[in-house]
Amino acid sequence: MTDAVVDERTPGRVVDPYRSGALRVPTRAPLAVGGDPEAVELYGPVFGVTEVAPLDADLTRQHVGEPHGERITVSGRVLDRAGRPVRGQLVEIWQANASGRYAHQRDQHPAPLDPNFTGTGRCLTDAEGRYAFTTIRPGAYPWGNHENAWRPAHIHFSLFGRAFTQRLVTQMYFPGDPLLAYDPILHTVTDAAARGRLVAAYDPELSVQDRSLGYHWDIVLDGPAATLPDPEATP
Ligand SMILES: [Fe+2]
Repeated sequence: MTDAVVDERTPGRVVDPYRSGALRVPTRAPLAVGGDPEAVELYGPVFGVTEVAPLDADLTRQHVGEPHGERITVSGRVLDRAGRPVRGQLVEIWQANASGRYAHQRDQHPAPLDPNFTGTGRCLTDAEGRYAFTTIRPGAYPWGNHENAWRPAHIHFSLFGRAFTQRLVTQMYFPGDPLLAYDPILHTVTDAAARGRLVAAYDPELSVQDRSLGYHWDIVLDGPAATLPDPEATP
């Protein structure tokens, strides 16, 4: 066993006031994976049993009817520390519906489910490293961490990378949300500038006439301007 390696992307181990954070942060030093580095690739991620299709990126067209809520387009680029596009990356999202309810059996928040909204999507980044989703602006939801604890509206993002060890799981937030100041999960990222990089920008260029409002959010995989992971790996 070697000494623990501090990953510059790892947020501060702040578990107070984020109570369940204590169950989510590592308690043991990372293990070094020795031997043949290519062996790691043999256990790398695959994209599932079906190919990634264009409709997978439109969460408003996965059912017979239209989901309730405000349609949005969320798009940005996946970049490395030098600002170069990261192409062909699997980007996955999951989110609550417009009422703040996940279509998941563990979510018992008494807000209505939407039969026309599952809340999951995926796409591959293009030659410019760009991803794009059409979806619904998610609602805030209560989560019991403390009295009147409500999560700001957010979309969970996963980027698989080319090996499991590279996976980034994080959350995108919306500008101007008054709940941002009160969210212990967002504030596990202790650097204000880094927190700011988790908030998308309204972008009228991405809005689609008579269809959706546009939000721009770039994801930087490493380096001093990296998009930081969050400690909440599940909804
Ligand atoms: Fe969530």
